[in-house]
Amino acid sequence: MKNILILAGDGIGPEVMREACRIIDWFGAHRGLEVNLEHDLVGGAAYDVHQCAISDAAMEKALAADIVMLGAVGGAKWDNVDYAARPEAGLLRLRSDLELFANLRPAICFPALAQASSLKREIVEGLDIMIVRELTGGIYFGEPRGIEDLGGGQRRGLNTQVYETYEIERIARVAADLAMARGKKLASSEKRNVMESGQLWYEEVERVISTDYPELELSHVLADNCAMQLVRNPKQYDVLVTDNLFGDILSDIAAQLTGSLGMLPSASLGAVDKISGKRRALYEPVHGSAPDIVGQNAANPLATILSFAMALRYSFARSADADLLEAAVARVLDKGLRTADIAPASAPSSDLLGTDAMGDAVLAALVEEAGL
Ligand code: IPM
Ligand code: MG
Repeated sequence: MKNILILAGDGIGPEVMREACRIIDWFGAHRGLEVNLEHDLVGGAAYDVHQCAISDAAMEKALAADIVMLGAVGGAKWDNVDYAARPEAGLLRLRSDLELFANLRPAICFPALAQASSLKREIVEGLDIMIVRELTGGIYFGEPRGIEDLGGGQRRGLNTQVYETYEIERIARVAADLAMARGKKLASSEKRNVMESGQLWYEEVERVISTDYPELELSHVLADNCAMQLVRNPKQYDVLVTDNLFGDILSDIAAQLTGSLGMLPSASLGAVDKISGKRRALYEPVHGSAPDIVGQNAANPLATILSFAMALRYSFARSADADLLEAAVARVLDKGLRTADIAPASAPSSDLLGTDAMGDAVLAALVEEAGL
């Protein structure tokens, strides 16, 4: 029995999560996946009830669960709340307290969606890259941080970019293991031309790979150049490893290459426990809470559904089920079924699927794909 904590969160989070839960139920009914779903609050939804972005009780559940599935956090309503209690803080606390240091963000351009990208078809068609973002260190968590009053109408805003050897080493190993199972090609990105932390990153990645992964082809690219290369010729990359802040930015660029943020799943993983063999994990779409379309049944649930496919693969060791779910999503797209974010601008609104209809379409495709 697998325990899944569902944290649907804010904005479109509950809408897309509802569809993902129907998919989870399908795997229970048809593929023998035994799960127990629990629900709790995160983000603004938690703030409204508990005055903090995640309650200690919900954190306890997250720590005890096999996996956490998260929808989205944030919204204008909480813009004036302190950083420590803001919706985003709930997500950051989950990442930090669960020690989810490895964030896997695959950017895959489904053939049927190549025209939905803002880039030319030949640049993005067949794209399949994996961004591995360090998630519990760097400037997101570094101390000191804050806004200081200097007097005389002057203030100072401060954040600290800091990395230690073990943090770089463990993320480099996650990326290298993935690269070994893929194209044996790894690119690492930092700003060593201006930052000491980037120089350390470069040296440690170089050391780990040359010592333990001699078969890997390793390259280094400055983060600004990497941003440019991603829109110039993204297919030159296979696995790309980078720090927390650069990973945040570069993964949004990679997302747009694939046509829509509404398609991109992610997995955030901790270390493998030496005794139990278990690994903490949180799965969430890369997109945010999309306040502009909340409550309209217009959100694309595919990123959340594909995040569950990643859970099947990385947490439940069910790669055949993950393949099945990914194939079902590809089938839906091949049929030309589209939510608004992935439809051609010329598509009449009567042709667009709502969030729930997209869930129905994936369920139908699962039945076809599984030959039931
Ligand atoms: C992401 C998001 C988060 C981040 C926000 C919501 C805190 O942009 O997961 O990429 O900056 O990490
Ligand atoms: Mg981001």
